[in-house]
Amino acid sequence: MKLNIALLAGDGIGPEVIDQAVKVSDAVAKKFGHEINWKPALTGAAAIDAVGEPYPDETHEICKSSDAVLFGAIGHPKFDNDPSAKVRPEQGLLKMRKALGLFANVRPTFTFPSLLDKSPLKKERIEGTDLVFLRELTGGIYFGEKGRREEGETAYDNCVYTRAEVQRLAKKGFELAMTRSKKLCCVDKANVLETSRLWRETVQAMEKDYPEVEVSYEFVDAVAMRLVQWPNSYDVLITENLFGDILTDEASVISGSMGLMPSASLGSDIGLFEPIHGSYPQATGLNIANPMATVLSAAMMFENFGLLEEGKAIRNVVNDALNAGVVTEDLADGGKSYGTSEVGDWLANNI
Ligand code: IPM
Ligand code: MN
Repeated sequence: MKLNIALLAGDGIGPEVIDQAVKVSDAVAKKFGHEINWKPALTGAAAIDAVGEPYPDETHEICKSSDAVLFGAIGHPKFDNDPSAKVRPEQGLLKMRKALGLFANVRPTFTFPSLLDKSPLKKERIEGTDLVFLRELTGGIYFGEKGRREEGETAYDNCVYTRAEVQRLAKKGFELAMTRSKKLCCVDKANVLETSRLWRETVQAMEKDYPEVEVSYEFVDAVAMRLVQWPNSYDVLITENLFGDILTDEASVISGSMGLMPSASLGSDIGLFEPIHGSYPQATGLNIANPMATVLSAAMMFENFGLLEEGKAIRNVVNDALNAGVVTEDLADGGKSYGTSEVGDWLANNI
């Protein structure tokens, strides 16, 4: 297969972890007889510095003419501490999600047998955890009308959802549940929010089309609690944009490090694949960031092309590295650790 992949390294540790995913993907491509044409493009603070905006038209053209996008991370502290900044790196990511129609963000949480004791949670609570969040990504409070603070002392962010937006996300959730344990949890705040009542009503109406799927409805605050008590009781969870943002960060550390969990954003022909973690500015250039989440995001990319063996090969080699102790310092417990690029080399060489 010939694949054109837009390569958006972004900010902070983005370029370092992306380099490792490229190495590993190229090794997989070589082994399975594929050809990958990487097409680098600017995004985030790096793009603001270079051309004044975080998702330039040129980057969009490159993404649109590719089969998928592999993305590193976005964000820079110089913007975080400046509430008056007009242009922000994060706007680039939001614009890209919208422009590429990526309404479904797939964020799995799973455990690695060799890392069970690295989790902040007790082993017996997390054993067997294998859940997936489907976070709605192009609606809700992220995209609703915003109040302008210069006009007064009041600020607001509107949360808006249409039934169609909920339906298309929920449909993906039901379909995913059918390929797994057939359990779907709709996470909302329907005891307070009207948008949540629309979510609940819409999902309830869809239940009859998927009689085998057992659907539960839980409030987001209760899910936040249960996620650290019994994460292994969940299978597929669907939720709106902001709830999904928060809960997936919470869930991402269950496996032992935030540097492990991959994600996919889907909705149109072009999928975007990126680690769940952020740009980790303090670690920029130090060759210490864990590249595994990005490498596993490349696995999700191959799987989304239907290249399941290729995805499996990456997952296997990541497991092998973890078993062999070829890990970055976040997983080394003060013991021997490897640099970002050494881990990448090991993975690529052992595919
Ligand atoms: C994420 C990030 C983004 C989000 C930011 C960088 C805009 O936190 O992908 O979860 O809030 O969606
Ligand atoms: Mn987030």
